[in-house]
Amino acid sequence: MNIEKQYDVDGLVRGYVDGSLENEQNDLGRQFLRERVDIFDRSSSLLDIGCGNGMDLKVYAGMGFTHLYGVDPSENFLQEARELLNGKIKLSEGVFEQLPFENEMFDVVVSRHALHYSHNLTRAAIEVARVLKSGGAFIVVISHPFADALLPRDEEGNVTATLFNGAVSIIFPQHALSDLFSASFLDLFELDLLYEYVGNERDGAVAEIPNTLAFIAIKK
Ligand SMILES: C[S@@+](CC[C@H](N)C(=O)[O-])C[C@H]1O[C@@H](n2cnc3c(N)ncnc32)[C@H](O)[C@@H]1O
Repeated sequence: MNIEKQYDVDGLVRGYVDGSLENEQNDLGRQFLRERVDIFDRSSSLLDIGCGNGMDLKVYAGMGFTHLYGVDPSENFLQEARELLNGKIKLSEGVFEQLPFENEMFDVVVSRHALHYSHNLTRAAIEVARVLKSGGAFIVVISHPFADALLPRDEEGNVTATLFNGAVSIIFPQHALSDLFSASFLDLFELDLLYEYVGNERDGAVAEIPNTLAFIAIKK
């Protein structure tokens, strides 16, 4: 299974987009990102990694940001994003581990529910730090490793999660919290804020443990 390209299977992008639109108003992760992004000057250059169909980028454009970029490995998602954004925002094919951008291009890098698909979080952190300016912000919403530990796991160490009442099933590598905030990560970034969410972010998760993690890390 190619984890990066899994959304290119027929129907998966449509199921994800429909579920996201239905949940948009109650989505604490999206609210977190939008509130935090709102703090920045509208001339800031902002990159959304794993931008999916571009629905967050569309909101940032509506907020007045003029230097917006999106990157995603899924051709199907990029096609949806091109249509949604009317070609107004620069979209590229790429992954966390190898970003198609020059050094220190961005003031802000955001990512919602994409970082946990990475098979190499250290490499991802090095790449994000490379494209961020010094003092730039990395604002992330990610599936919580505690919740992931409860999910079915295959022999390759990937877990399967279902979203939107079972409408979408996805797989991603299982990560520990220490893989995310590793020594390499903390060498590159200062952790500024860390939230855990319990509740409706993932259907079927045990409510007592956090299922979503949101953080802001500042590039040193
Ligand atoms: C759950 S979707 C989230 C999409 C969008 N951020 C949103 O919140 O609606 C996960 C996205 O991560 C992308 N993705 C998967 N592997 C990735 C990787 N290694 N680097 C960057 N993005 C990745 C997928 O193609 C997909 O668009």
